[in-house]
Amino acid sequence: MSTSAIQKTLGYENHTITPRLNYFKPCKKKTQQTFAQEVALSLGGPFKSISPKFFYDDKGSLLFERICSLPEYYLTRTEIGLLKQITHELASHLTGDMRLVELGSGSSIKTRLILDMLDNSQSKIEYFPIDVSDIIKDSCRQLLYDYTKLHITGIIDTYHGGLELIKEYDETPNLIIFLGSSFGNFEENDGFDFLQKINSSMKDSDLFLIGLDLVKNRDILENAYDDSQKITADFNLNVLSRMNKELGANFDLLQFSHVVKFNEEKKRIEMYLKSNKNQRVLIPECDMEFSLYKNELIHTEHSHKYSIPGIKKLFSESGFKIHALWQNKDMPYVLVLCSI
Ligand code: TRP
Repeated sequence: MSTSAIQKTLGYENHTITPRLNYFKPCKKKTQQTFAQEVALSLGGPFKSISPKFFYDDKGSLLFERICSLPEYYLTRTEIGLLKQITHELASHLTGDMRLVELGSGSSIKTRLILDMLDNSQSKIEYFPIDVSDIIKDSCRQLLYDYTKLHITGIIDTYHGGLELIKEYDETPNLIIFLGSSFGNFEENDGFDFLQKINSSMKDSDLFLIGLDLVKNRDILENAYDDSQKITADFNLNVLSRMNKELGANFDLLQFSHVVKFNEEKKRIEMYLKSNKNQRVLIPECDMEFSLYKNELIHTEHSHKYSIPGIKKLFSESGFKIHALWQNKDMPYVLVLCSI
């Protein structure tokens, strides 16, 4: 589809920043429920929760970067190590020149490993990061400076919206990547629906590469989400400061604790904010006041851990053919490459 057709049919505006940097942004009417509306719903009932997507304000994003290099948080370095080992083999699976599409905007070393691989074999590289916020940041300019053949088209939208755009875009084969075991943060049913959504957005020539964390020893898992420097605790609690700042709430951070449990049966890390006492909280922007009893938990995040047979079943049930499954041995983690 031409750029103007995309603008009209799918409701995006295209903005050109430089000849090698542009972005698509949905027109106003696509905007979603606000922070205040979502919080009012998720804290309004008997089982309280705050969606993990609200973790990532500026401070939260900085804290998350620090989490990624913590000694206990093995996921990032394990995935990078595995990617380094497999890029050569991954290159042999590519179906000619491919465009890199990333779910989430990679400023990271992982994106660069894939770009290096494409740089070796292609005369032009296209990179489409899909993220709701902040795609066109300094890291994109740095990438353009470092990779002279690179053209970046940011899609500032939800993954769902971005995938719709990709589906209609053109006939160039896409290599879609979804790294960091971020898939594990979906609730089970939503995750399954999301895999089907990706599947239905792909052409025969597209490939999908996903990184997933495997089940391992409970202590290793729990420590990865409850580090000794308490950065993950700050990250979790930061969502309360964000509500204080943006919604006028009066959460007293000293009256909440970071709680992490590995749920053996559901094979997932569960993260909560626990109320240290009976208390009342006011959120003026949500027009609400509610009580929390001592030890009451507010759920903030799930991080599912997988098994190889579970992954094979999940992917085949959502319509994928697995082309390769690379496993890191000492810290069990996998990269899975599949097509429709
Ligand atoms: N995808 C990451 C994971 O599940 C996200 C993450 C890492 C995270 N550490 C966290 C989310 C701490 C919330 C809190 O590992």
